[in-house]
Amino acid sequence: MMIETGTREILTESRDGTLLVRIHRPDRKNALTLAMYSGLSAALAEATRNPAIRVVVITGSGDSFSSGNDIADFLSSPPSGDQSPVFQFLAALRQFEKPLIAAVNGVAVGIGVTLLLHCDLVYVRAGATLQLPFVNLGLCPEAGSSLLLPRLIGYPRAAEWLLLGEPFSAEQALEWGLINALGADAERTLDLALAKARRLAGLPAMAVQWTKGLLKRAETEAVRETIAVESRHFIELLRSPEAAAALQAFAHRRRPGG
Ligand code: COA
Repeated sequence: MMIETGTREILTESRDGTLLVRIHRPDRKNALTLAMYSGLSAALAEATRNPAIRVVVITGSGDSFSSGNDIADFLSSPPSGDQSPVFQFLAALRQFEKPLIAAVNGVAVGIGVTLLLHCDLVYVRAGATLQLPFVNLGLCPEAGSSLLLPRLIGYPRAAEWLLLGEPFSAEQALEWGLINALGADAERTLDLALAKARRLAGLPAMAVQWTKGLLKRAETEAVRETIAVESRHFIELLRSPEAAAALQAFAHRRRPGG
């Protein structure tokens, strides 16, 4: 069974109680456009509605998981408020009640990393690189990461990743407690995630869902409020000359004559 996401760049496949959602824009390292955020939200909405779907696994196509927000989109159609597809997706993500598992098959940047903070189990390909380069781009953290990351890995480490914005390895992410385990390669990473999904799908649904709810309960309101504050700062920073210059520099870096 497939779910209509409205874009061929978000593919879905459902089997044995698991909905596999694949970010499929490999020539752009799976950078996320407005239509793709809407497609991801549609997939989560269908997974919520359909009782046959017990678990969602998210992965990427090709050699990357996601290079984050599409930089051309940041320049041409930046998010402007709650109704923007990226913020709609973040709301759907933080409110999603069924287990969500990430199979990070390759490089993950920006929201490609912060969305992992909303997953229940995270598996990453050994040797993959991750990065939170918000400050480098003149931007600030999003998706609740300014709250969730220091809570998860401790302030000094979160400050290192979010303030310096340097790439870090899957191995360091494991050591610092961001992720559950490494897969030897992309295929085995997905296999690992799907095996956990099958196991979760076979457990009593209400017990699983309520356990997730209880694990998240204490931080639900704080995450909602943090995302709202981050989003306001993010929108404002996107309009700054520093962000415009950094985004333009990336957008034009390899264009002939650019
Ligand atoms: N938005 C738009 N296009 C992107 C993109 C993004 N976030 N990330 C990669 N691309 C494009 C590149 O411009 C390139 O296009 P080209 O073939 O026309 O030159 C193509 O995808 C392949 O990327 P490339 O940079 O050549 O691959 P790489 O393996 O050398 O590096 C990344 C991969 C992800 C490390 C690098 O592309 C990168 O840093 N991307 C930007 C990530 C980012 O800052 N995201 C926003 C965070 S808020």
